[in-house]
Amino acid sequence: MEESARSANVKDASVYPVPKHYAEQSLLNEEQYLEMYRRSIEDNEDFWREQGQRLDWIKPFTKVKDTSFEKDDLHIRWYEDGTLNVSANCLDRHLAEHADTTAILWVGDEPGQSREISYRELHREVCQFANGLKSLGVKKGDVVTIYLPMIPQAAVAMLACARIGAMHSVVFAGFSPEALAGRMDDGHSRIVITANAGKRGGRSVVLKENVDRAIELCRETTVEKAVVVNYTDDRVNMVAGRDVDYATLVSEQSEDCPPEEMGAEDPLFILYTSGSTGKPKGVLHTSGGYLTYASLTHEYVFDYRRGERFWCAADIGWVTGHSYIIYGPLANGATTVMYEGVPNYPDVTRVASIIDEHQIDVLYIAPTAIRALMAEGDKPTAGADLSSLRLLGTVGEPINPEAWRWYHDHFGRGQCPIVDTWWQTETGAALLTPLPGATALKPGSATRPFFGIRPALVDNEGHLLEGASEGNLVLLDSWPGQMRTVFGDHQRFIDTYFSTFQGMYFTGDGARRDEDGYYWITGRVDDVLNVSGHRMGTAELESALVAHPAVAEAAVVGYPHDIKGQGIYIYVTLNSDQQPSEAMQRILRDWLRSEIGPIATPDVIQWAPGLPKTRSGKIMRRILRKIAADEVDQLGDISTLADPGVVAELIARHEALA
Ligand code: WTA
Repeated sequence: MEESARSANVKDASVYPVPKHYAEQSLLNEEQYLEMYRRSIEDNEDFWREQGQRLDWIKPFTKVKDTSFEKDDLHIRWYEDGTLNVSANCLDRHLAEHADTTAILWVGDEPGQSREISYRELHREVCQFANGLKSLGVKKGDVVTIYLPMIPQAAVAMLACARIGAMHSVVFAGFSPEALAGRMDDGHSRIVITANAGKRGGRSVVLKENVDRAIELCRETTVEKAVVVNYTDDRVNMVAGRDVDYATLVSEQSEDCPPEEMGAEDPLFILYTSGSTGKPKGVLHTSGGYLTYASLTHEYVFDYRRGERFWCAADIGWVTGHSYIIYGPLANGATTVMYEGVPNYPDVTRVASIIDEHQIDVLYIAPTAIRALMAEGDKPTAGADLSSLRLLGTVGEPINPEAWRWYHDHFGRGQCPIVDTWWQTETGAALLTPLPGATALKPGSATRPFFGIRPALVDNEGHLLEGASEGNLVLLDSWPGQMRTVFGDHQRFIDTYFSTFQGMYFTGDGARRDEDGYYWITGRVDDVLNVSGHRMGTAELESALVAHPAVAEAAVVGYPHDIKGQGIYIYVTLNSDQQPSEAMQRILRDWLRSEIGPIATPDVIQWAPGLPKTRSGKIMRRILRKIAADEVDQLGDISTLADPGVVAELIARHEALA
């Protein structure tokens, strides 16, 4: 394992104690957290038996937990003999007393646009669309691809799938047709739900054309139906017999759709995420455990009370959107805010004005957005009231203490705690996190484990490290929200997460634990980049690059970037008949955007006459990372390289770029 791509967080001495009103009024104070945590570990099964009661079961479970992290006997089963329906837990059970509560507060791209959808209304449309899906032949166990912008129909589509027992596979609407096709192929998905176009930052984003192209590109599956939300005025080509108008489909359906009875371990969704090797993998989550865990963390991490407006400013294309826009909040009967746009449109005051206009109680947002706003100084919150805010949160990447403080002072007016939640697509929901009434905060630290979670640090040989130390972050025991497999490739699941360290789940992250037992995530220790909170495998970028006819070889590394956290730095060796040029830079940039999507746009492309390799031909990324990060004084031993001369040449070219 190579050292982390980002240097460890600088130790920050300041501690922010729990504000007095939180210690008195929140669900748990520190003493109660410690006691409940102790019990969650010592009486693990009893703890989870109790927590399973937060859901409505059709047939109650009797078995709680059956899990093993041993790679030869790997299995993860929670509540396995219980049956339930996730959409009924997110909708139907709230109808008796809270039918008129706003389930989704939708805020549009343009200022002034918003819509409140009650639980009653959401339930009705989900039932109708679920019936619509059935009428198109979708059955329990099918994979339904969702490629939608941030509009209420995205939530409807996810919940409608859950209602009939189909797995949804949400693909971020910023992905290219190639990336979409790859995911539809992998899931053997025969139906896709999309919109004619989306709106973001004042611009119209083409979606249906991407879907048309993706359907042509699919090789492993034949997409038979495309449901199209005609959301904007843009006219799109509708293919007769294949394409179906969403509004027409829904209007023809009955409002009655009994929820399908699902086993706790039946799949709820797959969500593709990048790893250090090969294609993105379909992370599979199941029903009972996932929902228990998403709902429990949503309530405790955010100290959530009914009636509050909870704004998770993520996209439904990522796991954060799944767990904290849709499933966690709706399972808890919350009002969840769904924002269509971007934080800086029409200007940098947008986030603050949404908070004031809609009296938002909790804001949960990525560090990259905070840093982008921080770059504007006082402007993003100037003139804003923000007194409705009670709590702030962050997720997706390490937050630097400077950004933490800016967030705390500007959005939190020095009064709102910040919950820095560490988790992954694979973990389903937050694992390391402060609880606002229980945890004194240290800027930059995700602090302590949530209930039932047993984090540990190990060295590269897998030896457990004690006390204050730094190493690879692993988890020693299962929790209900854990992923169950890689869709279609169980061996890859075992190899990726359970083969590096015996009997442990390996996160791929490095972390430091301080003398108070607080965890500080230092970043990925594998070849995964985290660019603006988006995970990207260097292998994925490299294989896209070498697929270009002009490219002989390519290596991709991350480097520290003020706003994005990590930027994408690419070393390219062109074929001998090609000349480096600005035009070629543009061609390769556009190539990556079209192969993967705009999030894969490189920050730096450096021409490389050769790449540093070991004698066995392995590219030494450590060296490439040091050069990209301007840390050439820390190259270490390069004498084992096949051709050490390459390094001096790369350094010279890097310096010439600056
Ligand atoms: C990183 C997002 C530091 C980490 C929920 C992890 C974080 C990867 C934090 C997962 C945090 C997430 N502090 N790093 N609070 N949260 N990460 O799958 O490297 O998109 O492994 O899930 O993001 O990214 P993913």
